[in-house]
Amino acid sequence: MNDNNDILRVDGLKKTFLKDKAAVDGVSFAFSRGEFVGLLGPNGAGKTTTIKMLTGLIRPSSGAIYYFGSDFQKESQKTKALIGVVPQQNNLDRDLTAYENLYLHAILYGIPKAARKARIDELLDFSGLTDYRNRQVKSFSGGTMRRLVILRALLHEPKILFLDEPTVGLDPQIRRVIWDFIVKINRMKNTTILLTTHYIEEAERLCKRVLIINDGLIIVDGDPETLKDGIGRFVLEVHKDDGIEEEFFDNRSDALAALEKSTYPCKVRGVTLEDVFLRLTGRRINV
Ligand SMILES: Nc1ncnc2c1ncn2[C@@H]1O[C@H](COP(=O)(O)OP(=O)(O)O)[C@@H](O)[C@H]1O
Ligand SMILES: [Mg+2]
Repeated sequence: MNDNNDILRVDGLKKTFLKDKAAVDGVSFAFSRGEFVGLLGPNGAGKTTTIKMLTGLIRPSSGAIYYFGSDFQKESQKTKALIGVVPQQNNLDRDLTAYENLYLHAILYGIPKAARKARIDELLDFSGLTDYRNRQVKSFSGGTMRRLVILRALLHEPKILFLDEPTVGLDPQIRRVIWDFIVKINRMKNTTILLTTHYIEEAERLCKRVLIINDGLIIVDGDPETLKDGIGRFVLEVHKDDGIEEEFFDNRSDALAALEKSTYPCKVRGVTLEDVFLRLTGRRINV
């Protein structure tokens, strides 16, 4: 059954590249309009494969994808107009200017000639890139290229924007600029966002809802605060000779009391989504 209030609904989506091991092993979820969702998981978990299926770059082995209740496999051409994609790698033409890159994309996405220039200039302004309009992309910093790729994905005014690891390889300071930009898109244009990341902080700071993926399976789905509440808000790290052990507590005073009693060097800190992942899988997201 499809609920038309869902912008996107996925049922038992699966992709098997090699014979026996599924890269995405049957995932199901639904998003409503304006949601800001993170798909968080370690390298190789199946994030990119999921995004590629959702955006029509690869075919699922099984399962179904519905946008606004209509079957993506059957109506992919029409549906692609609703989707914006920011791939993991910047795929700009470095010899062209920002404007020229955007203009080419506008042609590809069938934006009427009369509307192209105004749409591009409005978006350059929206993203603070007007000064870069007529400069060649090869002179841009990594962060500016990233903003341009995101802006480009907005040209045809998609209802849902997919961003695959949008801040990988960027300096922490630039990462914040990109975060602000993505939040602005979500708030001001009410664009539904799905971003993938293996950065805990990125998921915690940005996403109202996080799907944690591991080995092709979504192991948890919820808002970061509730997920953290589920295991206890404070961690006592006990630094033993053979590694760090973690104990979880609902409040700081209990954690500090345990610290007092311990004979090992200890530290009390707040719980993160990394701890949630560790509790569920026995390993860390970032190793
Ligand atoms: N084209 C492909 N052919 C074979 N295996 C692939 C292909 N693409 C991805 N995989 C495998 O599928 C799994 C998930 O990959 P991917 O979706 O890229 O993970 P993530 O984006 O979370 O790092 C990995 O084990 C990866 O090696
Ligand atoms: Mg990936």
